[in-house]
Amino acid sequence: MSTRSSKFAQGDDKRAQLELRRSGDIPVHIAVIMDGNGRWAKKRGLPRIAGHNEGVESVRDIVEACGQVGVKYLTLYAFSTENWKRPKDEVSLLMRLLMRALRDETDKLHKNNVSVNTIGETGSLPAEVQTELYDAIERTKENTGLKLYLALSYSGRWDITRAFRQMAHDLENRSITPQLIDEKMVERYLSTNTVPDPDLLIRTSGEFRLSNFLLWQLAYSEIYISQAYWPDFRRGELYEAISNYQQRERRFGLVSEQVAPPKSKTGHTRRLFKHVSGI
Ligand code: FPP
Repeated sequence: MSTRSSKFAQGDDKRAQLELRRSGDIPVHIAVIMDGNGRWAKKRGLPRIAGHNEGVESVRDIVEACGQVGVKYLTLYAFSTENWKRPKDEVSLLMRLLMRALRDETDKLHKNNVSVNTIGETGSLPAEVQTELYDAIERTKENTGLKLYLALSYSGRWDITRAFRQMAHDLENRSITPQLIDEKMVERYLSTNTVPDPDLLIRTSGEFRLSNFLLWQLAYSEIYISQAYWPDFRRGELYEAISNYQQRERRFGLVSEQVAPPKSKTGHTRRLFKHVSGI
């Protein structure tokens, strides 16, 4: 567990999780744009990599808390297609960090019944990263708890382009016909074809952008923008995001009267989240 989250008494955390489960639906799938590592470091006069290092602590805490609270799928935007254009040194430090995190965390993930999965052009990652990644995927594939998806060398446009290419190929070899193409079929060609669309998208560091993340899949997701930089985003902030999500009315294009009213939350629960998140 991270140093920041350990300041919360275990009892309070368990109580906050229980209240969260009671107060409304837990999103089945949460997707996260982890942003602000560099700014977190800069604010402290540290090199950018210090922000990424501390960001790994947040990953650890959020994965654990998501599993405990009953989230089924968590997709983390860990390295975008565009991130390859960062300075070479930062890219290689990020790759080393990823490799180390996979090596150090897989045992614990396995123990916590988490399965590791990935989306993205993983063949372009350094060989050592691929080895750790596929090892983690293989070792945890039978786990039945949280399904963690690491988006690596991923972008929404890459995903959609790849789907078009595969579809064109299947049209050419006549395994499909144009008349068969509908939304369900398009979804089957995307890299997320075994995953339901995210219910909740969280972006940290106060930015209002999708940054080429799950462009098709986020069509009806609720968006939550946290002002916290990613290294400061821990389970208390996650509970705030889920609590906020529980207040939303998801209409999927319908009118309010056609959808069920959201479950209400007690003042007690609100106070408890405030306490756990410290805000
Ligand atoms: C965004 O912050 C963060 C990233 C590009 C990388 C995220 C990676 C980690 C948290 C570490 C490794 C991940 C895992 C899954 C173990 P930024 O650098 O864009 O921050 P800035 O916008 O403040 O510069």
